[in-house]
Amino acid sequence: MEEKLQHLRQRRRITEAGGGEKRIRDQHEKGKLTARERMARLLDPGSFVELGTFVQSGLKDASSLEISHPGEGVVTGCGTIDGRQVYVFAQDFTVAGGSLGEAHAAKICRVLDLAAKNGCPVIGLNDSGGARIQEGVYALDGYGSIFYRNTIYSGVIPQISVIMGPCAGGAVYSPALTDFVFMVNGTGNMFITGPQVIKTVTGESVSMEELGGAGTHNEVSGVAHFFTENEEDCLAQVRTLLSYLPSNNIDDPPLFQPQEPVLDREELLHIIPENVNKSYDVREIIRRVVDGSVLFEVHQRYAPNAVVGFARLGGRAVGIVANQPQVKAGCLDINASDKIARFVRFCDCFNLPLITFVDVPGYLPGVEQEWGGIIRHGAKILYAYSEATVPQLTVILRKAYGGAYLAMNARALGADLCLAWPTAEIAVMGPDGAVNIVYRRQLEEAEDKEQRRRELVQEYRDRFANPYVAAARGWIDEVIDPRQTRDYLLRGLAMLEGKREQRPPRKHGNIPL
Ligand code: HXC
Repeated sequence: MEEKLQHLRQRRRITEAGGGEKRIRDQHEKGKLTARERMARLLDPGSFVELGTFVQSGLKDASSLEISHPGEGVVTGCGTIDGRQVYVFAQDFTVAGGSLGEAHAAKICRVLDLAAKNGCPVIGLNDSGGARIQEGVYALDGYGSIFYRNTIYSGVIPQISVIMGPCAGGAVYSPALTDFVFMVNGTGNMFITGPQVIKTVTGESVSMEELGGAGTHNEVSGVAHFFTENEEDCLAQVRTLLSYLPSNNIDDPPLFQPQEPVLDREELLHIIPENVNKSYDVREIIRRVVDGSVLFEVHQRYAPNAVVGFARLGGRAVGIVANQPQVKAGCLDINASDKIARFVRFCDCFNLPLITFVDVPGYLPGVEQEWGGIIRHGAKILYAYSEATVPQLTVILRKAYGGAYLAMNARALGADLCLAWPTAEIAVMGPDGAVNIVYRRQLEEAEDKEQRRRELVQEYRDRFANPYVAAARGWIDEVIDPRQTRDYLLRGLAMLEGKREQRPPRKHGNIPL
């Protein structure tokens, strides 16, 4: 027995050493932790249970301690985060560059299957040179098996991808299929084809960082949802995100102790400027409504004309969607549409009520937007809200014009409770545009055109651009004092606690993409 135990200990030691001292040193020199160090920081201390430690492709002699690729370049298993079970895989760059072969893929598929079967989130820490070149089509098939699982478990369990090193070629499509992508600034990279191939094919010169670093994917492409400064910060943010999520599509998110906002709700009376054409930061409003004034933003750097993120109301996690008047006057453009629609669908998958704060002058006008397909992208928001069956509460703060009024979860799209501040302006279009069209002749005939325009704009605003026309038809349930927003939302959530909504049976809808 002792001999066998010694063999086991030796085998474990070799496997746990990964690619060996030199490669671990190289990893540290690049500012990166090893797969096991990352696991230890992500999970609750001592909770990690490794699975498939001794997986080895092409094992010929089980007695031999010569292990060419310890762990096949990936550490897999489960553990807990804040006491809740999660499944995890961490690619080990010290072993053949974390490249993915058949056995490496099988280990990942096993944790994906276990996570789905047990209704637990899955987190993938990516740091890999891509398909293991020596394994050819075996590696490709491995990726296919992962993509398939990412897709069929989408909406069943939360799937989180963390990019802590290279993630190149087709390998990027597993993170792309998951719910959230975190990237570490400076070390995480994602691209389909690297700078060298691009140089050869198109002649463009671009650095790895510019092409596919954390900044690029958080600000330009929208592929990543979270920009993080370093690995510690990244893993801490993953833990925070999980605190807002249920473990699966049947569970509810964890309940926290309710907390009053730290910021003064009286200030809600002064955030929106008197001049309707002036902007403000909508997050200042959100923070005076939600528990502890904490908003955990998703896609913070992407399409900043919209704000999406998680918060708590009365201890319960909710999804927040808002227009951001500070950027592009809060207009909905192509990227904001994608950002909002995807977030709404995530919340709907995972039982998170949606709170929408509206201050939107419309969809963004422009040739570039039209040619870029604002029609089909904008349709995604309409589709996502209409499809959602979680409790939906809408607060109209100021502008709610035209199609964008509908898109920001108007009653017609299924909002359960629609509130408006007295400053709300709900109409087909803004006063300036409307006056130009409706009163063109009066304006032409007026002696003092500017004076007449001002009068007509005011007349239009009084008659149409207020919350009472919509409230008269019941499309707004209540016009409220801004300071009462939190109370109304808390009561709204309680009122909708038992919401159950069935839709006609179908295989699945066909969201415009
Ligand atoms: C086998 C690989 C590998 C790979 C790296 N290694 N990538 N082995 N298959 N794909 C090995 C290296 O040979 C080296 O082994 C060790 O990992 C570390 O690699 P280095 O190059 O020394 O590291 P570094 O300088 O940090 O560069 C990292 C890198 C580079 C940028 C990722 O290794 C690289 O460009 N690799 C190839 C990337 C790639 O083109 N992959 C295929 C993409 S196509 P030793 O023994 O010397 O330490 C793809 C298709 C998927 O993935 C399709 C799915 C549908």
